[in-house]
Amino acid sequence: MNQKKPKNIVVLGTGGTIAGTAARASDNLGYSAAQVGVADLLAGVPGMSEVLEGHALVCEQVAQIDSKDMSFAIWSALALRVQQHLAQDDVAGVVITHGTDTLEETAFLLHAVLPAALQLHKPVVLTCAMRPASALSPDGPQNLLDAVALARADGACGVMAVCAGVVHAALAVQKVHVYRPDAFSSGDAGPLGYIEEGRLRLVNNWPLALTHQAPGALERITQVKTWPRVEIVMNYAGGSAAVVEALLQPVPSAPPLQGLIVAGTGNGTLHFELAAALQRAGQAGVRVLRASRCGEGRVLPVAGHAFADSNGLSPVKARVALMLALMIEGQTTRAAMCSDPN
Ligand code: SIN
Repeated sequence: MNQKKPKNIVVLGTGGTIAGTAARASDNLGYSAAQVGVADLLAGVPGMSEVLEGHALVCEQVAQIDSKDMSFAIWSALALRVQQHLAQDDVAGVVITHGTDTLEETAFLLHAVLPAALQLHKPVVLTCAMRPASALSPDGPQNLLDAVALARADGACGVMAVCAGVVHAALAVQKVHVYRPDAFSSGDAGPLGYIEEGRLRLVNNWPLALTHQAPGALERITQVKTWPRVEIVMNYAGGSAAVVEALLQPVPSAPPLQGLIVAGTGNGTLHFELAAALQRAGQAGVRVLRASRCGEGRVLPVAGHAFADSNGLSPVKARVALMLALMIEGQTTRAAMCSDPN
């Protein structure tokens, strides 16, 4: 039987600079993010019909925010919508327009929570812009075109990001520049590929959806009222116990601290006063993971170290992973406590 290829590319809007506008076309800084709806963004991309090659676009506004203001509620809603769209037989892939500032966290979250069975067959492509839609030379339209080209490419799968023609895997992608249109890097891993004139040139394997997955987490994040509180602290010259001690104090506006990611120096090294405070946090039941403040490389395990390493994740991605782990563990613990021993 001749199986029909899925036709639709779904584009979910969440805001960001790609949807931003400024009063003057020459202003690339004093703009407001998240002003233009995703339908209007798509309508303004010349050449889209050629890149679609017979596919159809379906769009939906999931949020309209500056991604520095990303919330757990929007993350849950977005992950759920992506899963629902991917599960449709007529959907070939999902594109998400997103601010650059927390794009790597959202990409990692989706990689961790979307079922592997869906990720292995269909792509989720985040894209963005470093110049607002009103700029003299906006990068958003080209990035959107490239994202659609990637989403409909043969064999595309997994969660990826595309910016300035470079394709990155969710696990590797990191914003590394505050201003340049080519603001992202995959570090040691290198890019997955490039989009050139609407065509993908793959130079690496498609992302494997098997590492850092958190099975059951998608259901959990849509059920919980409050996400576990995990904060990030940094090591630096003259470091001390003060920040960790302050974080351990109860505050009315936040749930109790459950986890700490420490962005250590170099291979996750820690000032002895900070290390002692983290030990006390651990004794108080707070989970501590050691990442690095270095932009590249991964913290290598050190035998006998007091704190587990972040398993190759940057501090912000390790925080997402730990929140998901704590949510899943919390559910297991509650289920064990509630189960009838008879
Ligand atoms: C944002 O992250 O929403 C604003 C900054 C950007 O998209 O470059």
